[in-house]
Amino acid sequence: MKKTVLVIGGGGREHTLAQKFLKSPLVERVFCAPGNAGMKKDGIELVAISELDNQGLVDFAKENQVDWTFVGPEIPLLNGIVNVFSEAGLKAFGPTKEAALIEGSKNFAKEIMVTYQIPTADYQTFTKFSEAEAYVKEKGVPIVIKADGLAAGKGVVVALTMTEAIAALKDMLEDNKFGESGAQVVIEEFLEGQEFSLLAFVRGEEVYPMVIAQDHKRAYNDDKGPNTGGMGAYSPVPQIPQAMVDQAVKEILVPTAKGLVKEGRPFTGILYAGLIATEAGAKVIEFNARFGDPETQVVLQRLNSDLAEIIDDLLNDRVPTIDWQETGFSLGVVVAADGYPGDYQKGQLLPEIPAFENSHVYYAGVAEQEGKLVTNGGRVYLVEAAGETLKEAQEKVYGILDNLDTTGTFYRTDIGDKASK
Ligand code: AMP
Ligand code: GLY
Repeated sequence: MKKTVLVIGGGGREHTLAQKFLKSPLVERVFCAPGNAGMKKDGIELVAISELDNQGLVDFAKENQVDWTFVGPEIPLLNGIVNVFSEAGLKAFGPTKEAALIEGSKNFAKEIMVTYQIPTADYQTFTKFSEAEAYVKEKGVPIVIKADGLAAGKGVVVALTMTEAIAALKDMLEDNKFGESGAQVVIEEFLEGQEFSLLAFVRGEEVYPMVIAQDHKRAYNDDKGPNTGGMGAYSPVPQIPQAMVDQAVKEILVPTAKGLVKEGRPFTGILYAGLIATEAGAKVIEFNARFGDPETQVVLQRLNSDLAEIIDDLLNDRVPTIDWQETGFSLGVVVAADGYPGDYQKGQLLPEIPAFENSHVYYAGVAEQEGKLVTNGGRVYLVEAAGETLKEAQEKVYGILDNLDTTGTFYRTDIGDKASK
């Protein structure tokens, strides 16, 4: 019997996951809750239930004979969706809320890294402004200040001047700009080097690494402007040597998975290490408890195996077969609403995007108005293309974007350039 799958979330990452599941010969139907209107063109069925309504989602899964559920974003994971599904006797792929704390609290993640000797930046945690200020003054700049809790990629300030550092501490600890998330701050050493994202399928102590990607977190070209959820990505990242990736699997992913088991918080799901390639090897800047967005949109293009089969195997105690492309590149560029990650308008009509070979469009912040797609969020859609070389993939994506009417939106024009620097 072919399977029915439910995907939780509504962004470009979930669009990609749902599309991959629907292509699997094992799968008949894919629901996405809440999904977005752009997914419908691919045959994904939208479910109007909030990703935070655990009981509503359990009821839906039971009523619709869902075989298993894949959880995309961190907020439902930290909201205990996997705990609630498993208590209800349902299979859901993702960490429990106890294991997802590796993303939910930067301080918890740091404690795990210290305990299990996982390479990361030196740090200290503070709740009092005066103590934090004294520490920053002692350490000097550049220095990195992070709100402890979730802040959608926006709770991190890389302070190049003392004025910026102190303003960030004031925002978080005195003016509560990040609410509870910023009531505790992690202050850490500034690490220098290129960033890359290393993700893995994890089940307890078992770690199955994926091919690496590089995200672009700043809003504008040349890594200028505010931090965002991610403006574009590509995979693989040729300037990161394979030996460093192997080291990161051995010294970072494996001990983290084992450490979480030892702590009584075994992790099953996607473990994402955000890394910086320093002169002393790869070091962790953050852990996430889920697929990255937009990394997913490029990494999964390079998966030869069937994603649905991998998840089905992992959920059913079988050993998965996971095979990655050894050559070729995938690159994706996010189109965001003008003003993102600050305030932006909604309701801008989107262009029709023609279909191209070896290329995909993944929708995120969109809604339907009179049968047409309009903007409805910060990151609106992503255009992805594959190529034999990175340059070919890059030229394909920008060739498509340059011919679209992107009124009311913007995109970075340098995604992939770091590979040739
Ligand atoms: P995070 O949300 O922890 O991934 O941080 C957002 C961004 O801030 C990262 O993608 C990096 O560009 C930057 N960043 C975070 N931590 C550090 C660090 N210790 N050194 C240098 N840059 C950092
Ligand atoms: N692209 C970064 C993230 O998903 O957290």
